Amino acid sequence: MVVLSFQRALLVAGAALPLVQQGLAQTIKTPDGEVIPANEDTLAPAAEPVADSDTIEADALQLTESVLANLTAYELSDIELFKFGEEDDADVTQVSKRTVGSCKTYPGDPKWPSRLTWGVFNLLTGGALIETVPIGAVCYPDQGVYDAEKCAEIIAHWTESATHEADPTSAMSPLFQGETCMPQNGNSSQCTLGGFPSYVVKATSVYQIQLAINFARTLNLRLVVKNTGHDFLGKSLGYGSLSIWTHHLKEIRFRQSVKTPSYSGPALELGAGVTVGELYAAANKYGVTAVGGECKGVGVAGGYIAGGGHSPLSGKYGLGSDQVLSIDVVLPNGRFVTASETQNQDLFWALRGGGGSTFGVVTSLTVKAHPKMTFSGATWVINSGNDTANSDEVFWKAMYAYWARFPEYAEQDVYGYGSIFPRGPPGSGYAWSMLPWMVPNKTLSEFKAMVQPLFDEWTALGFEFEPEYFEHDNFYDAWTSHFPTEAVANSNLRTASRLFPRSSWEDEETRTAMFDAVRSVVEEGSALIQYNMNPAAPAGTPASGANSHWREAIWFGIMGTGWAPGISQEELEAVQRKITDDWMGRLRPYGPGAYGNEGDVMEPDFADAFFGENYDRLLQIKRKVDPWDLFWAPTAVGSERWSIAGQPDWLTLQTGKLCKVSN
Ligand SMILES: Cc1cc2nc3c(=O)[nH]c(=O)nc-3n(C[C@H](O)[C@H](O)[C@H](O)COP(=O)(O)OP(=O)(O)OC[C@H]3O[C@@H](n4cnc5c(N)ncnc54)[C@H](O)[C@@H]3O)c2cc1C
Ligand SMILES: *[C@@H]1O[C@H](CO)[C@@H](O)[C@H](O)[C@H]1NC(C)=O
Ligand SMILES: *[C@@H]1O[C@H](CO)[C@@H](O)[C@H](O)[C@H]1NC(C)=O
Ligand SMILES: *[C@@H]1O[C@H](CO)[C@@H](O)[C@H](O)[C@H]1NC(C)=O
Ligand SMILES: *[C@@H]1O[C@H](CO)[C@@H](O)[C@H](O)[C@H]1NC(C)=O
Repeated sequence: MVVLSFQRALLVAGAALPLVQQGLAQTIKTPDGEVIPANEDTLAPAAEPVADSDTIEADALQLTESVLANLTAYELSDIELFKFGEEDDADVTQVSKRTVGSCKTYPGDPKWPSRLTWGVFNLLTGGALIETVPIGAVCYPDQGVYDAEKCAEIIAHWTESATHEADPTSAMSPLFQGETCMPQNGNSSQCTLGGFPSYVVKATSVYQIQLAINFARTLNLRLVVKNTGHDFLGKSLGYGSLSIWTHHLKEIRFRQSVKTPSYSGPALELGAGVTVGELYAAANKYGVTAVGGECKGVGVAGGYIAGGGHSPLSGKYGLGSDQVLSIDVVLPNGRFVTASETQNQDLFWALRGGGGSTFGVVTSLTVKAHPKMTFSGATWVINSGNDTANSDEVFWKAMYAYWARFPEYAEQDVYGYGSIFPRGPPGSGYAWSMLPWMVPNKTLSEFKAMVQPLFDEWTALGFEFEPEYFEHDNFYDAWTSHFPTEAVANSNLRTASRLFPRSSWEDEETRTAMFDAVRSVVEEGSALIQYNMNPAAPAGTPASGANSHWREAIWFGIMGTGWAPGISQEELEAVQRKITDDWMGRLRPYGPGAYGNEGDVMEPDFADAFFGENYDRLLQIKRKVDPWDLFWAPTAVGSERWSIAGQPDWLTLQTGKLCKVSN
C-alpha cells in the first residue's frame, strides 16, 4: 500500500503538468524577475535545517519565518495559505467568526483547493502528499487499482494491526468510515471514500506537519491525525479531511541522564510514530524498563500518552502520561514548541492525558526509563458451562471472590488483565482468560503468596482452575511470552468502558450491587475485558490533565458487543442504545468515569467521564491554543460545538461534514 500510495503521490504532482504546459501553473519569480512554473526543479521543500545535534532528526527540519519570507520574495502562488496563525481578532478563520450551521470546507465547495494548489502543497512538503486510496480498493474491479494478489494479502492479514499501521488511512474500527470499501466485499461496488480523508501528508519531518496545519487552518479544512489507527471511536478518520500521518516518525534515542525539576535519571526520546513494541525492544536493548500499553502496535507518543495510557507497569509508575518529561509539538498556529515543566507549562499539563488531536500534533517526546526488575504472575483459561467442570453458578462465585479482593491487589501494584467472553448464546457458559495477571518487582514465591488466599477460597467452592505460573528477570521477556496478540479491525463491533473507583468497594451492599450489575451485562452477551490495577500518580509526578477518574480506579472494564452484518437500521439502533444507555446506564452509578481511549463514542457526559475534574481547565487551554477549532475529534476536549452532519443521535460515524452547532 505504501508503494501504491507513493504512485498516487506522484499523480497529485503530475496532475498539474498539462496545465504547466499551458502556462496556467502555480509560479515563482526568479531573482532575475523571470516568472517560471513551480515544479520539483524550481521549488525547494519549505524547510530550514535547525542545527542542533541533540535533536531527533525529524525535528531538525522546520518551517520558519525566513522560509516563508523567501517564498514570499519568490512570489510563489498560494504562499499566503502556508503562513502561521496569529491570535489577532481580525483573523476571520477563527471559529468565533463562523456562523452556526457553517461547515468545514469540503470537496465540491468553491473554496476547496484546486489540484494546482494541492500540487504546490505537495511540492513544499517535498512530495509527501498522498491522495487517499482506501486500503480495500485493490479488491474492487471497478477501482483503477484492482490487484487480486494484494487483495488476498490484505484479507489474509486483516486482523493484524500492522496491516493498518502501514496504510496511510486505514483505521482499526472500520465501523466509523461507514465500513466502505471493505476488502472482504470486493465484488460489490461499495468502494467510496466514506469517512476516509481526501489527502494525507506522510510526515517524516516537522516542517511538513507545520505546512499541513497552516494549509488546513487558512482553508478551513477538516484536519485529522493518524498514527497507527488503533482508535476505537473513529478519531483518526474524517470524511473530506486532510490527514497528518505520523507513523514514519520512528526515531528512538536513549539518554543516559536527563534532569528536570522533578526527575533525574535515564530517559528515552521517542518520535511520534514509535509503537509499544518498538519502545519495549529499545528499552530492553538499553537495559531499562519503559512504560507502554499491553498491545504491541499501539502508538506510544500518539493517542496512547495523549489519552493517559494504562500499562502493566501502572501500579508502580502510574499512567503512560506520567512518564513524560518533555514534549515537542506543532500547535494549531503552526508553530513548533517544546512543552515541559519549565516551558509552556499549561500545554505540558494538557498534553499529558488531555486527549489526542486536540492541542496540536506531537512530533516527539521524552519519557522516563526505569530500572530492570523481576516480573512474575500467571495465565489461565477457565471455562464454565454444563460441558465443563464449572457450573455458571460456581463460575460467578469464583469471579466475585476475585473481584472482592481488587483493593488488596491494587495495593500490590498488580496488572490483572483478563477477558471474559460468553461461549455462545445465553446458557452456553463463559471463557475467562487471564492474559496475564502480573506483578512488577515480585518473585514468583511472592506472587504465589499473594494469590493463595483466593485460590484456597476457589478450591473450597469447588472451582476448577489451573494456573500457569511464570517468572522473568526482565519486563521484555515477560511481555513477549505472556501477552496476547490482539485481533483488530473487526466490523460490526462497538465498545464502551467504565472506571470503577476504590470507593465502590467500601460497603458490601454497593460492592455486591456493582458485581451483580457487571454480571448481568455479561449474562446478556457483553464481553468484559477487565484490568485490576492502581494507576494513581506516583509521588513527585507533576500534575497533569489525565482523567481524574483514573486516579481513583482499581478496576477498568471494557464492554461491548457485535451484531450481524446487514441488520436493519432499527435493529442497529437497538444494539447501540443497549450498549450506551442500558448496559452503561446500569454500571455508571458504580463507575461514573470511563477511559476515553477505549471508551464509547456516544458516552453522554463525555466531558466528565473521560476527563473528570480536569475538563474545565483543559477546555480553557484548548480555546486559547486553538481559537480556530482546527483540531476536532469526537469526544475530544472542545468538540461539543461541532457535529458530523447527518448522524443519528445513537452513533456518530465519520462519514459526513463537520459543521458548527453552537458558539
Ligand atoms: C488492540 C488494542 C489494544 C490496546 N491496548 C491498550 C493498552 O494496553 N493501554 C492503553 O492505554 N490503551 C490501549 N489501547 C487504546 C489506545 O491507547 C488508543 O487506541 C490510542 O488512542 C491509540 O493511539 P495511536 O496513536 O496508536 O492511534 P491512532 O488511532 O492513530 O490515534 C488515536 C488518537 O490520537 C490522535 N493522535 C495520534 N497521534 C497523534 C499526535 N502525534 N499528535 C496528536 N494527536 C495524535 C489521533 O488523531 C486520534 O485522535 C488499545 C487499543 C487497541 C485497538
Ligand atoms: C528560496 O526559495 C527558492 C524557491 O523555492 C529556493 O530555490 C531557495 O533555495 C530558497 N532559499 C532559501 C535560503 O531558503
Ligand atoms: C460475492 O458475491 C456473491 C454473490 O453476490 C456472494 O455470495 C459472495 O459472498 C461475495 N463474495 C465476497 C468476497 O464478497
Ligand atoms: C447445556 O445447556 C444448554 C443450554 O442451556 C442445553 O441446551 C443443553 O442441553 C445442556 N447440555 C447438557 C448436557 O445438559
Ligand atoms: C524491587 O524490590 C526490591 C526489594 O523489595 C527493592 O530493593 C528494589 O529497589 C525494587 N526495585 C524497583 C525497581 O523498584
